[in-house]
Amino acid sequence: SSSKILIKGGTVVNAHHQEIADVYVEDGIIVAVKPNIKVGDDVIVLDATGKFVMPGGIDPHTHLAFDFMGTQTVDDFFGGQSAALAGGTTMHIDFVIPVNGSLSAGYEAYTKKAKKSCMDYGFHMAITKWDEIVSRDMEIMVKEKGINSFKFFLAYKGDLMIKDELLLEGFKKCKSLGALAMVHAENGDAVFEGQKRMIELGITGPEGHALSRPAVLEGEATARAIRLAGFMDTPLYVVHVMSIDAMEEIAEARKKGQRVIGEPVVSGLVLDDSELWNPDFKTAAKFVMSPPIRAAGHGEALQAALSTGVLQLVGTDHCGFSSAQKALGIDDFRKIPNGVNGIEERMHLVWDTMVESGQISVTDYVRLTSTECARIFNIYPRKGAILAGSDADIIILNPNSSFEISASSHHSRSDTNVFEGRRGKGKVEVTIARGRVVWENDELKVAPGSGKYIDMPPFGYLFNGIDKEDAKYLSSLQAPVKRSI
Ligand code: URP
Ligand code: ZN
Ligand code: ZN
Ligand code: ZN
Repeated sequence: SSSKILIKGGTVVNAHHQEIADVYVEDGIIVAVKPNIKVGDDVIVLDATGKFVMPGGIDPHTHLAFDFMGTQTVDDFFGGQSAALAGGTTMHIDFVIPVNGSLSAGYEAYTKKAKKSCMDYGFHMAITKWDEIVSRDMEIMVKEKGINSFKFFLAYKGDLMIKDELLLEGFKKCKSLGALAMVHAENGDAVFEGQKRMIELGITGPEGHALSRPAVLEGEATARAIRLAGFMDTPLYVVHVMSIDAMEEIAEARKKGQRVIGEPVVSGLVLDDSELWNPDFKTAAKFVMSPPIRAAGHGEALQAALSTGVLQLVGTDHCGFSSAQKALGIDDFRKIPNGVNGIEERMHLVWDTMVESGQISVTDYVRLTSTECARIFNIYPRKGAILAGSDADIIILNPNSSFEISASSHHSRSDTNVFEGRRGKGKVEVTIARGRVVWENDELKVAPGSGKYIDMPPFGYLFNGIDKEDAKYLSSLQAPVKRSI
């Protein structure tokens, strides 16, 4: 296939600006963005008249080929990335989980898993224990391996969970390295207590998952992590913000000028917890993830928080399991592998829920799904922009076409989809990754090995204080919408 592409006549959208222009791509790089570009006949020409030409989505939060809760996620790197490309996402950042606490062993293992990648990817690294070797390895990861973020789990007691003492050591190290600290914010000791309580009451089904770890435990852990990060004077990124409780803690801290980023995920934005009470185990178990999908009202409040700038970007926490794997917890909700899909659905659902509904502008959409992620993880404007010199990761979205989600047509390897039956307006008709058309006419053309590892340098913008643009933004923030549940 030709390595030269011209996208003609579309509305080119970046996070702060949109205009009608042509986009010319050569050898994986955007060469020019301007009206009326003339080219020779060795160039693939795509007509984007009446459509939006936008940076491909960047998913800040995925788990591909993740060994978790006695099994491995159904989507490996190639499978999960194929799904992503079909849904308009052209880069993701996956969580490396250390092997027996070893960061370098984890890095090696994930580097192997990612060899068959068909789109660009980066890594975050989880920290699950603390000693001199971990501390030294963090430095190696940042200075030599292109990792600039570390996730600390305040939940999953007895497995990934760490104590506050380690969290403080980790925050200190992150600050000195210019790496971003991330937290899974749920109080794991209290969740453990909540689970015991459910089992004593004889509640062993999926509803026990929601009942054992209510939003107050997410609010507590979010508040604690924010205060400790403030105490250590280092920026903080809260992953999978699922509740009003957590969101309000972030809003308050940001209002005071603290450098806190909040990442809701698409399941938390558009779903509610009602199906966890479905008498059909297979249907109910599909919705089990942590923190849990909350009662109706939380998702709408998180959407509002995105539209007012209280929350900054949208991830997925894509962590797919088949119904056979979910059945590991048929007798005990504590054994249901935690995780839902989203890598293929995020771009469509955010468009339909937030742009089509009039909550945000098209430029905001680009910021929330792509640009802000690139900026936070210090790879902007190579990623997250349609500018001359940026990587040619581009989507063409037709606002008048529609999408429909089903396990029978999705590209994940799972036999179920937590968004089953959802339909909406706005369809990604073309995906270009690294200058190659990989999704067109509902057909994938992907090649294992074509995706590249993206090095993410330390000391991103959050380390320079919140910049002028953000300061202006902060002062214009409205209070988040409060809703009673
Ligand atoms: O349920 C979830 N979220 N599974 C993935 C692991 C994590 O906590 O992100
Ligand atoms: Zn312009
Ligand atoms: Zn998590
Ligand atoms: Zn996750």
